[in-house]
Amino acid sequence: MRVLPAPGAVPGRAHDDGPDLGHHGDAEVGAGLVDLAVNVRRAPLPDWLADPITAALGELAAYPDPAPARAAVAARHGRPAEEVLLTAGAAEAFVLLARALTGLRRPVVVHPQFTEPEAALRAAGHEVERVLLDPTEDFRLDPARVPEDADLVVVGNPTNPTSVLHPAAALAALARPGRVLVVDEAFADTTGAPGVPGEPESLAGRRDLPGLLVVRSLTKTWGLAGLRIGYLLGAAPLLARLAAAQPLWAVSTPALAAATACASPAAVAAERAIAAELAADRDHLVARLSGLPGVRVAGRPASAFVLMHLAGAARVRERLREHGWAVRRGDTFPGLGPDWLRVAVRDRATTDAFTAALAEILEA
Ligand SMILES: Cc1ncc(COP(=O)(O)O)c(C=O)c1O
Repeated sequence: MRVLPAPGAVPGRAHDDGPDLGHHGDAEVGAGLVDLAVNVRRAPLPDWLADPITAALGELAAYPDPAPARAAVAARHGRPAEEVLLTAGAAEAFVLLARALTGLRRPVVVHPQFTEPEAALRAAGHEVERVLLDPTEDFRLDPARVPEDADLVVVGNPTNPTSVLHPAAALAALARPGRVLVVDEAFADTTGAPGVPGEPESLAGRRDLPGLLVVRSLTKTWGLAGLRIGYLLGAAPLLARLAAAQPLWAVSTPALAAATACASPAAVAAERAIAAELAADRDHLVARLSGLPGVRVAGRPASAFVLMHLAGAARVRERLREHGWAVRRGDTFPGLGPDWLRVAVRDRATTDAFTAALAEILEA
């Protein structure tokens, strides 16, 4: 793991001297391609979710009222309502914190991870420092590598694109007075562990850690990327600062209806069942990939995607596109390079067809 100076202090989303932080998996999909590049689950909405969203369409003449959804999300995580801020997806949360947290002296982003937090910080004028986790250490987090005087630390758990789930204790060790610790748990609902009833390693219910902000998304497991719904959890005064940077009525009435529905005990139980099914599908994908020549799966994947290393991955990705498969390039993530690809976990039949195509390309 190395600490690098921020490449370029110019606010903006793309940089001449580094990877394109604005590149996302949705840019890789296209007509005729099977999408393994975007990590949003593709399943029909269950009635308990579709019905309230549809019903909300009848209320569009009124401005949105976030109070019921806020209360429902707060109850789900065992927090008071003031410790919840609903956002238009997790993406909006990153922009709010970048704009609201003025005067940061040493903001640090732990990479490789989702690039929007750094992009939002840069766009708001912050000079961002990177801590790069080491592939030879399976991208594990060592809290001691984060500079002691960092006053903002952003880390993903589980992390996109590595699919690594850091121990809650390692993350908690990063919290301290005078620092805002942002843990992006957009994919926490995809994680599970045998014998653990809830999400292993989640900090969403922790109220004792100073400066902790947990970012959550409802767009992944529930296939709501187009609806835009997520939220922040944290201490009320800190959330109040972020809320002051949020436009009025930022979260629409249908999105609020979805947030309420997804917070119910039945929805959380359904989420756990989906995570268990996903784990079996992921094991299948990992087993298939591990049997291919030159392919190495990074670490022990814990989420809805798997990161793999193979020499010449950039060319392999092009060949996969010719065969009808879209996978996510790795080179736009700081800390990775052209030899990495990220692949979404799908059902076994899709995985078998994909790995057969990959095997053919690798053997050619
Ligand atoms: C790790 C991570 N966090 C947050 C987001 C943004 O999610 P949302 O759709 O809720 O804005 C993404 C989207 O890809 C992501 O991968």
